[in-house]
Amino acid sequence: MAEHESLEFGKADFVLLDNVSMEEFMANLKLRFEKGRIYTYIGEVVVSVNPYRAMNIYGRDVIEQYKGRELYERPPHLFAIADAAYKAMKRRNKDTCIVISGESGAGKTEASKYIMQYIAAITNPNQRAEVERVKNMLLKSNCVLEAFGNAKTNRNDNSSRFGKYMDINFDFKGDPIGGHINNYLLEKSRVIFQQEGERSFHSFYQLLRGAPDSLLRSLHIQKDPKAYNFIKVGGQLKSCINDGADFKAVADAMKVIGFTGDEIQTVYKILATILHLGNLTFGVDGDVTLIENTKLVSVIRELLSTKEENVEKALLYRTVATGRDVIEKQHTTQEANYGRDALAKAMYERLFCWIVSRINDIIEVRNYDAKIHGKNTVIGVLDIYGFEIFQNNSFEQFCINYCNEKLQQLFIQLVLKQEQDEYQREGIPWKHIDYFNNQIIVDLVEQQHKGIFAVLDEACMNVGKVTDEVFLQGLNTKLAKHAHYTSRKLSPTDKSLEFDRDFRIRHYAGDVVYSVVGFIDKNKDTLFQDFKRLLYNSSNSVLKAMWPEGKLRITEVTKRPLTAATLFKNSMISLVENLASKEPYYVRCIKPNDVKSPLLFEHERCRHQVEYLGLLENVRVRRAGFANRQTYPRFLQRYKMISEFTWPNHDLPSDKDAVKRLLQGCGFDHDVAYGKTKVFIRTPRTLFSLEEQRAEMVQRIVLFLQKVWRGTIARMRYRRMRAALTILQAYRRYKVKSYIREVNRRFKNVRSMKDHGRHVKWPTPPKVLRRFEEALKSIHSRWWAWTLIKGLSPEETLQVRAKVAGLEALKGQRADLGLQRAWEGNYLKRDSPDTAASFTLVSSDLQRKDKFMRVLFSCNVRKINRFHKSENRAVLITDRHLYKMDPLKQYKPMKSIPLYNETVLSWIPSGRADQLMSGVIQVTGLSVSPGKDQLVVFHTKDSRDLVVCLQDMVPANESRIGELVGTLLSHFKSEKRKLQVNIASPIQCSMNGRKCTVIVEPKINQSQPDFTKSRSGYILAVPGN
Ligand SMILES: Nc1ncnc2c1ncn2[C@@H]1O[C@H](COP(=O)(O)OP(=O)(O)O)[C@@H](O)[C@H]1O
Ligand SMILES: [Mg+2]
Repeated sequence: MAEHESLEFGKADFVLLDNVSMEEFMANLKLRFEKGRIYTYIGEVVVSVNPYRAMNIYGRDVIEQYKGRELYERPPHLFAIADAAYKAMKRRNKDTCIVISGESGAGKTEASKYIMQYIAAITNPNQRAEVERVKNMLLKSNCVLEAFGNAKTNRNDNSSRFGKYMDINFDFKGDPIGGHINNYLLEKSRVIFQQEGERSFHSFYQLLRGAPDSLLRSLHIQKDPKAYNFIKVGGQLKSCINDGADFKAVADAMKVIGFTGDEIQTVYKILATILHLGNLTFGVDGDVTLIENTKLVSVIRELLSTKEENVEKALLYRTVATGRDVIEKQHTTQEANYGRDALAKAMYERLFCWIVSRINDIIEVRNYDAKIHGKNTVIGVLDIYGFEIFQNNSFEQFCINYCNEKLQQLFIQLVLKQEQDEYQREGIPWKHIDYFNNQIIVDLVEQQHKGIFAVLDEACMNVGKVTDEVFLQGLNTKLAKHAHYTSRKLSPTDKSLEFDRDFRIRHYAGDVVYSVVGFIDKNKDTLFQDFKRLLYNSSNSVLKAMWPEGKLRITEVTKRPLTAATLFKNSMISLVENLASKEPYYVRCIKPNDVKSPLLFEHERCRHQVEYLGLLENVRVRRAGFANRQTYPRFLQRYKMISEFTWPNHDLPSDKDAVKRLLQGCGFDHDVAYGKTKVFIRTPRTLFSLEEQRAEMVQRIVLFLQKVWRGTIARMRYRRMRAALTILQAYRRYKVKSYIREVNRRFKNVRSMKDHGRHVKWPTPPKVLRRFEEALKSIHSRWWAWTLIKGLSPEETLQVRAKVAGLEALKGQRADLGLQRAWEGNYLKRDSPDTAASFTLVSSDLQRKDKFMRVLFSCNVRKINRFHKSENRAVLITDRHLYKMDPLKQYKPMKSIPLYNETVLSWIPSGRADQLMSGVIQVTGLSVSPGKDQLVVFHTKDSRDLVVCLQDMVPANESRIGELVGTLLSHFKSEKRKLQVNIASPIQCSMNGRKCTVIVEPKINQSQPDFTKSRSGYILAVPGN
């Protein structure tokens, strides 16, 4: 019930006619045709009238208007039906098919192309490359199939001479992922013969008119079709076909589809071979049959890549196996002609089937796994040869018309019969609408034993000479009483029928007179084995592959092949079964006139088509009937969310009650009927409205589900995190524990170890315990040190303290601190044994006088005096004083410097009383150099620093600076006093109040360190090497 179209264009749906009568139907059809409205609905069936002119209604903008729309939202169009089929497939996961019917030239092929274009245009919004590839292949394949399968007939310049059913496979997202083409009975007799005004298949003319000269030369053919017997009838016909341009388009398409260069060349060679075959003539010489134009044989040999004598032999002889013997039987010229024609037809048919199978290889669905990708659904498009009546109707027309009977039967079954039966079954009040059921004609053709095909097959099975007339006699006896069959014998007065030649069938679409001439041959469809072997043995692998049965040896008994009629019948039955298993959509094409005029609406011609297509009955059934029916559970499943009574589950006694409740709630009660198992919805509008409400609710449900699901996910994630954390903690505890356990194990016997665990390797701690490990290590170190020092004597303790102090002060800043040896401190006695007695004397004297407790250090030194002269002296450092002594005068003390301020002064050397009294004399610091020399500067508070270099040591060159520094520091520390220690070079000091520097310089030939004066102070020259 299309809208959005003004009434001036007539009624967009025949259901809206005021009266369903032929007059009104025709008036509406005519009005719409004249107004350029070529499409009209009968419910969901599209009636299409061939406009015979280019219509501007297939562009991108129009596609957009129909995309995703419901049927009745837009003016009638093929696109709407294509969209409906697509939606049904996508929404309900249903396989659908679009059946396009109508007589030859009514516009079926064009319609199928527009439908394909539409589907291609609305799918694959994401531009997936693979899907684009598939779509391109599907569209391109058309062009190739039309070149080889279509021809100009008297009814249609581009008449399909084969049936085509194309399945398009879609993935769960609704994108095309592949396809498959079934082809039906190619009218191959056209290869060798065409009626007046007709042409052979386009491919021949395309080759002659479009191929470059070089190609033509290599194929040994010339441009003029008149030169070839097989195609000369249609060679000079005028039409708007542009063969030259089509040749290029087809060649390109073949390339795009994926035909190899070799394959394309072979295609051309086969076409050329067929043309040459047509020009072969046979003659007789005595009783020998021969080829008159033998030159052609070598051309054919070259094109077929076989041996020349084999070509000739295959054309002139037939190998026959009689029991074990194999003999070669020569053909008569008649047989040779028959063989040649059969070869030409068979080669072309094979070529065509091979092209289809190559296309199928390429577009076939790949890598689809229903488990992963969901069900793959199919839209089938059927474009089959239309019903036709020619001047001379032969076996092919008979098959074609039978095919149309079958399709009409399917239409009747699905649209008229099933629907009415269903209303009855479901108990819906219904007044039966009568229609003509063509099952009787279908039976006439295909019934076992009695049908025309059966009679034909029977005739073919007879041994001996079987003629077409015998077949006709068979028909006459078997079908004499059949209402739809007649012949001259049965109705002798009918002059339109020829005796022994014609029979007439009253088809649903009209009477057709068939001539039985050729029926037997065409049905047997014999091709001598010799040809099959010839082609199989070609060195052209593409050609060879088309003839696999050529490999059978002549003696191998093969089953009698099925006849052409049986093959065709079987293929039709399976086609109809296939269509019936899908949800069908119909396009009914009507041809407005026989002269391809865009203006002419031949009333009678159209009326006839409307009548035999059963369109009026269609309208009646549709009008009284219902647009949609669904079982109650299914209906509920789909729409239960739009009513509170049914969502999420109803508590009514039955689904039927629930559906009633739901529909009453929506206010649709008047537009529906309740059957026993199904609910019937009259107008599509109601269904659409239900769909709309559902879509709205689905959004909410989706939101709700999302909400719940998100919550669930979050909770799941939270629980996982918690678990991970627990595991983490346990693991960490475990790591810590095992670390501690390991430390315990390794250090268990640390007390009894010789080195108290110094050698023990620490285990690697977990990251968190790095600092803990440091602490542990330091605890161990301390404990270890403590165990070392706790057994020391007081003397040893002092020494260790001194060494520690020395190490702290000098570590890294001076080499050789002498830590390894014992620090004796009081070295003078050892170094100068000869004078030791005097030193001991002076020392005890001083101890008495100055009351010192112990000697910290003593040593011989070289010293700079006030007059910049160096002299030998000795120093003695006690816990209270630093004494400078003169070794040459029995160690007479020459100077005494308190280590720090004393309150009580017991001994004052002469001439220094003033300074001492003021308390300014005291040692404030030490300076040593970073080198190995034994230089030391004692800084005093009165700026009269004492600059000395230790010397005369035993053993010689013993390094004592470390000991001196360490001992003094340690002592000062124990007295809680500060002593400044500098390590520097040069050393800054004050002599007699003047600042100066002391530099250490190695000198060659210097046997002992000694001081000399320099400009800024002094140089201590040390032995250099
Ligand atoms: N929708 C259309 N728009 C324009 N011309 C059309 C249309 N349908 C058919 N024709 C014309 O009619 C001719 C025959 O149509 P075609 O589809 O080949 O018929 P069929 O397949 O039914 O035998 C086409 O070649 C074209 O010229
Ligand atoms: Mg066609």
